[in-house]
Amino acid sequence: MPPDIAIPAEAAVDADFVRARGVLERLWARGTAFLGCRFAIMGGAMSWVSERTLVAAISNAGGFGVIACGSMGPALLEAEIAATQAGTQKPFGVNLITMHPQLDELIQVCIRAGVTHIVLAGGIPPGPAVRAVKDGGAKLIAFTPALVLARRLVKSGADALVIEGSEAGGHIGPVSLTVLAQEILPHLREVPVFVAGGLGRGEAILSYLEMGASGAQLGTRFAASAESIAHANFKRAFMRANARDALPSVQLDARFPVIPVRGLVNEGTKRFLEVQAATIGRFQAGELSREAAQLEIEHFWAGALRRAVIEGDVENGSVMAGQSVGMVTREQSVGEIVGELVEQAVRAIAARE
Ligand SMILES: Cc1cc2nc3c(=O)[nH]c(=O)nc-3n(C[C@H](O)[C@H](O)[C@H](O)COP(=O)(O)O)c2cc1C
Repeated sequence: MPPDIAIPAEAAVDADFVRARGVLERLWARGTAFLGCRFAIMGGAMSWVSERTLVAAISNAGGFGVIACGSMGPALLEAEIAATQAGTQKPFGVNLITMHPQLDELIQVCIRAGVTHIVLAGGIPPGPAVRAVKDGGAKLIAFTPALVLARRLVKSGADALVIEGSEAGGHIGPVSLTVLAQEILPHLREVPVFVAGGLGRGEAILSYLEMGASGAQLGTRFAASAESIAHANFKRAFMRANARDALPSVQLDARFPVIPVRGLVNEGTKRFLEVQAATIGRFQAGELSREAAQLEIEHFWAGALRRAVIEGDVENGSVMAGQSVGMVTREQSVGEIVGELVEQAVRAIAARE
């Protein structure tokens, strides 16, 4: 182009922006093709939170919503899927917990309803469940905490993997996404890999795409969105919290394992420590068997997520949240959140050129 033709600054920005958008589209093309959506941004399934309204909103915004089946039985799940289908024409997934006693029936409910993507979470998916998903024609998404297991999951039929770092909200593993991504992304090209945990901005998503990820999964930011049915107290707690307030649950004694769950520190988390100490004391005094003590500790959090999300008891309930909670500053619509993430990624690409 001749140097004497002046290009208005805005036009130049626009051209860069359009080019940058093309770069982003290419970077996550494998993810968008796999999910069948415009942006490779998955709404991570969140028990009690990821229901028809939020899931449909995420898919309608160009992302990929995922219903959290949690402890729902087959009839409830069937109704939830039907209601989600009534809210969106776009694809969405269903997340099933592998230790659910009715896992096989739940898979059949998904297949019968034409759910295209099934996420099996909470442990290594059992062989029969993997086969049932595949035989039913759905795509299987599994979680992997390590490269060896990732390879095994791909061999057994997983069509895509999620690697979730310990920065995430809810049940977590011990390794951060920064490290998991370096261990897994450069070495696993057979299937699309989605990254999760602590993601709150488009620039971060972009950096993982450049490392080989096909897309990203976010939970915390969507939990506080306008479309989320979470109680106003729950959303307010998210808006007030900083990253340092979202901590993993603490285990007092290695003989009594505690499943690590990341959530906001509150009265409940303090009382959990007291209950563990008292229960261990009773075990040591011979008042409780080891099994009874373990059960008592495990039962402490029963129903606690529902209490926080639905009833709004954010002091005694379980306010599961990722470290990304520090990036939740106000209630935004799902469309705004998705748009912001995409724009941040695109602007970061454009700024380099
Ligand atoms: C309130 C809450 C509940 C969650 N429940 C589930 C669940 O039922 N099943 C699951 O696989 N992951 C669950 N997660 C994890 C999310 O799907 C997602 O992977 C995670 O939130 C990503 O990290 P982020 O919170 O930093 O965005 C939950 C997360 C939160 C915050």
